[in-house]
Amino acid sequence: MRSQIAAANWKMNLDFKQGKQLIEEIISQEPTPEAGKKVVFAVPALYIRSARKKVKNNPGYSVSAQNIYHKKSGAFTGEISAEMVASVGAEYVIIGHSERREYFNETNGILAEKINLALENNLTPIFCCGESLPTREAGTQNEFVAGQISESLFHLSAEQVLKIVIAYEPIWAIGTGKTATAEQAQQMHHWLRQVLAKKYGQPIADQISILYGGSVKGSNAQEIFSQPDVDGGLVGGASLVASEFVTIIRALKKSV
Ligand code: 13P
Repeated sequence: MRSQIAAANWKMNLDFKQGKQLIEEIISQEPTPEAGKKVVFAVPALYIRSARKKVKNNPGYSVSAQNIYHKKSGAFTGEISAEMVASVGAEYVIIGHSERREYFNETNGILAEKINLALENNLTPIFCCGESLPTREAGTQNEFVAGQISESLFHLSAEQVLKIVIAYEPIWAIGTGKTATAEQAQQMHHWLRQVLAKKYGQPIADQISILYGGSVKGSNAQEIFSQPDVDGGLVGGASLVASEFVTIIRALKKSV
């Protein structure tokens, strides 16, 4: 059985008070997601502790960091470690978002180091992958995304890989209002599951949640999430509006 997950990636938006109000509003409308459904708020690191306090009495809700540094500790002024975010109550961490790959030059090798640190600190990594528009137009998206997965995850044991959540986010669909069609999402998710099955075996691959991200909103969530290999979404813009995100939570299908 794999979890169905609605994950909100706030990115660098909302001040502290706005963030608290947003979580309160969402929880008041949807206090207990059905069994097997999970809701994750990936908030700015400064807000993790407060967000954790807000969700701790609502089973099914968790808090995530948006990033961690790829070293354990030391003289890295301004950076935040896996241990730090875990110590203030984060249970998840987004790793390898395309914005970090692009603007902060995060490579598959650096991301593998982050994955290890996340797991050592009992954080569930939400590992992002996805191709650019030119790669999609060239028709090489499957190989490209398989490369991202194998270079950052395939050093893990089967037991470790079961702790990973994958998010497929085609770069051309992020913040553009242009979603992948439900068929495009399903095709890629099915391919990713095959890639995982080839390395770890089908029973393991069948237990890994694969989320879709890229212009998910209340009006398209149900169609995308209903695809057999899509286990929920990683949501940017629409996660900043309580009513939209509640609709997205409600669009999760029952655990498969
Ligand atoms: P949008 O939902 O705003 O397209 O962002 C997707 C995303 O990058 C989530 O991580």
